[in-house]
Amino acid sequence: MDRSRLLILGASGHGRVVADIASCLNRYEQIAFLDDDEGKTSAMGHPVLGTIAMVDRYLEDFDLFVAVGNNLVRQRIQLGLKSRQARLATLVHPSAVLGSEVSLGEGTAVMAGAVINCGSIVGRGCIINTSASLDHDNVLEDFVHISPGAHLAGTVHVGECTWIGIGACVINNLRLAGGCRIGAGAVVVSDIVEKGTYVGVPARRRRS
Ligand SMILES: CC(C)(COP(=O)(O)OP(=O)(O)OC[C@H]1O[C@@H](n2cnc3c(N)ncnc32)[C@H](O)[C@@H]1OP(=O)(O)O)[C@@H](O)C(=O)NCCC(=O)NCCS
Repeated sequence: MDRSRLLILGASGHGRVVADIASCLNRYEQIAFLDDDEGKTSAMGHPVLGTIAMVDRYLEDFDLFVAVGNNLVRQRIQLGLKSRQARLATLVHPSAVLGSEVSLGEGTAVMAGAVINCGSIVGRGCIINTSASLDHDNVLEDFVHISPGAHLAGTVHVGECTWIGIGACVINNLRLAGGCRIGAGAVVVSDIVEKGTYVGVPARRRRS
């Protein structure tokens, strides 16, 4: 099998989890990082080759993966790479379960124990984090993050760059606007039409 090389942008906790997935896949002959902490020379036994600004010199030789948790920063970096014809990886942990007719956009990570049921469409640069679940026919626009242990029932639509916090739940047939933050443990029971931060059970917009 022809094995390629993977360069992960970001060597923080999220980047290291991404490196773990890549290692499990046995698809890459080399894994390396770029990170803006110039004091960091390696992570998880993989070298840090430089800062993210140096990425252009690696575009030919590596597949790339943007492992930055902040949705807007990840979006900016990934779209910038795309415009320079970078090859972007999509990474799915072997223990994740994907139903039939599920599609994943490039630059998306599906972490250990996640479940994505049939007919769901996940956009580019999304994170489906540890043990999160999307039931059937969800649509996630680009750069959405579903945090660990969050659960979306069937036919939920999540707008671009929305972040669903750890352990949050969304009942079926709802639409959530883009650019929202849904707090840890929140339960969303009605459509969210306005960008903002929503917390609690049932989830309400936090005025600040
Ligand atoms: C919702 C959230 C984004 C708000 O962050 P923030 O703007 O920094 O908010 P603060 O911590 O300043 O809290 C502001 C107020 O909201 C309340 N609050 C914050 N998060 C809350 C939550 N999840 N549920 C209920 N209330 C919450 C705080 O208690 C505080 O209330 P007060 O003003 O009465 O004291 C954040 O608290 C959260 O839940 N993040 C999810 C983290 C996560 O999922 N991480 C996984 C990473 S993989």
